[in-house]
Amino acid sequence: MKLLTIVGARPQFIKAAPLSKALAGAGISEVFVDSGQHYDQAMAGNFFKELELPAPAYSLGVGSGSHGKMTGRLLESIETVLLKERPRAVIVYGDTNTTLAGALAAAKLNIPVVHIEAGLRSYRAAMPEEINRRLTDHVSQILLCPSQRAVENLAKEGLTNAMKSGVLLSEDECRSNNPSDQPFICNVGDIMFDALLAARARKPTVPLVDQLGARNYVLVTIHRAESTNDPDIFEGLIRNIAELGGFYNVLFPVHPRTRKCLEEANLGHLLESPNIHCLEPMSYGAFVKTQSNARVVVTDSGGVQKESFMLGTPCLTLREETEWTETVEMGRNRLLGLKPQSLLDAVRETKDHIEPTIRPYGDGRASARIVAVMEACLS
Ligand code: UD1
Ligand code: UDP
Repeated sequence: MKLLTIVGARPQFIKAAPLSKALAGAGISEVFVDSGQHYDQAMAGNFFKELELPAPAYSLGVGSGSHGKMTGRLLESIETVLLKERPRAVIVYGDTNTTLAGALAAAKLNIPVVHIEAGLRSYRAAMPEEINRRLTDHVSQILLCPSQRAVENLAKEGLTNAMKSGVLLSEDECRSNNPSDQPFICNVGDIMFDALLAARARKPTVPLVDQLGARNYVLVTIHRAESTNDPDIFEGLIRNIAELGGFYNVLFPVHPRTRKCLEEANLGHLLESPNIHCLEPMSYGAFVKTQSNARVVVTDSGGVQKESFMLGTPCLTLREETEWTETVEMGRNRLLGLKPQSLLDAVRETKDHIEPTIRPYGDGRASARIVAVMEACLS
């Protein structure tokens, strides 16, 4: 069986790594396609080496641009690849423009689409990622959800034939299924948990974390369009981070979108404090270690909210809503919105680290379940 995987943005390299290893272990051939949506070494190339990803058979080099331009260009170039390769199915991850283009190109050629991280919703219709994930789910044949909540979200949209009502499947249950009913929907757990456990096991050294000491800094990431595109919102967030730097050490690995906005808005000087460390985007292993040792994580990232939850680090989210609702309901993540009154007060109010005992995102063995589903549904 030949499968074709399409990735291109930072979190997709991270999510693809455990499944690529598991597919190779099961003797399933994988054609790896890099859309080129992210292209800086620190956002893309470095992850291939660090996570031992397969060398891409195709690098499409789409680069940056408007949503329409990126999606349109990718649709055309992915179609060319699919016509040449004729895979049994196409695997896409998450909710980026790369995800949507890959899913659409495959669906139009009647090639089954496997969506990993299906069923997430923010219910904010204008959010670019919400558009991408809704459309992708509705053209997919195999919808692999990270949680029971994600399965329930799909049911609200008429995608109801989920295995065991969305309860996490055992590997045997994944294997024993050969559904004639399409689409096939099930909860396999979150593949980012697999990636996180592997990263922790590698035990990387991060000199700055060792120097500052555990729980002695706040880790910040910002990259979302909603945080960076509106000048007032962006300046408000940067001023909040600057204020935090008066009282805490702050580690801020800066996403290239955010770096560009800081330069264009001429706000970089606000972060010039000995306590504030503006860094290049970090390697995955280094970032996970930095998250796990932080006093608090402040972020607008989906993946980072969830990883903080898995690691037990308190999280403050700079968004009005989240797809990872369980983290909020379990009291480990607080939504501060895009215009927080005082980030400093929120950091002061956060509680201690607690590794969760209830695990809504599975057990870190999603990739084994996904391979079992593929073997059952696609062989
Ligand atoms: C994209 C995804 C978002 C995901 C994020 C992960 C979409 C719509 N958004 O957002 O869901 O959370 O990736 O990080 O697909 N840039 C560089 N170098 C790079 C990459 C980007 O300079 O290697 C700059 C460019 O100025 C570009 C901007 O960042 O225009 C935004 O990049 P883009 O891929 O469009 O969106 P992200 O914010 O990265
Ligand atoms: N990440 C990383 N280096 C960094 C910042 C984040 O490796 O400097 C990882 C992080 O651990 C998580 C993923 O990138 O697994 C999240 O990606 P991002 O925030 O770009 O996108 P999102 O999850 O919001 O789509």
